[in-house]
Amino acid sequence: MSNTVSDRRSFLGFFTGLVMSFIGLVVAIPAMAYFVGPLRRKSKGEVANYQDAGPLTDYPVGQWHLASVDMVRQDGWKKTRVKHAVWVRREDKSEKSITVLSSICPHLGCPVNWHPDQSQFFCPCHGGIFNQEGKHVGGPPPRGMDPLPFEVRAGRLWVRWEDFKIGVADRVPVSV
Ligand code: FES
Repeated sequence: MSNTVSDRRSFLGFFTGLVMSFIGLVVAIPAMAYFVGPLRRKSKGEVANYQDAGPLTDYPVGQWHLASVDMVRQDGWKKTRVKHAVWVRREDKSEKSITVLSSICPHLGCPVNWHPDQSQFFCPCHGGIFNQEGKHVGGPPPRGMDPLPFEVRAGRLWVRWEDFKIGVADRVPVSV
């Protein structure tokens, strides 16, 4: 008789442990997926792709126009939004005539300004000069301004921001 009671108790103990383990797994698996998922997807930090830079009609033909794009950076659980300035020019109304340049000087990273009266870009920090296509024509920058990839979707300009290594002649993308 006492053997039967003891067997029943140990069976109940085992069964209860089994049920508790099952409940623990049901709770733990989604929680693990929630916490580990972002790390697996974007372990080195990732920049969201193309950002809306507004309708093409905002960009007057034949002029450089300063626009800003939001860059969304996801690093694990942390999402940060950073604004970047880009120079945009359309030579005519066709999509092929668009040029998008980073406003960051490839010398040491200062913002580059367009001077329409001289048809040149100038960097105020150390006197870098770029022609109206963004090519380096004077001062210490080791290369021209950095072009950025873009797309036109339904009449709007979408720009993909990229960081490039500064202070070097080659255009080397920097992953952030
Ligand atoms: S940072 Fe532009 S010239 Fe030095």
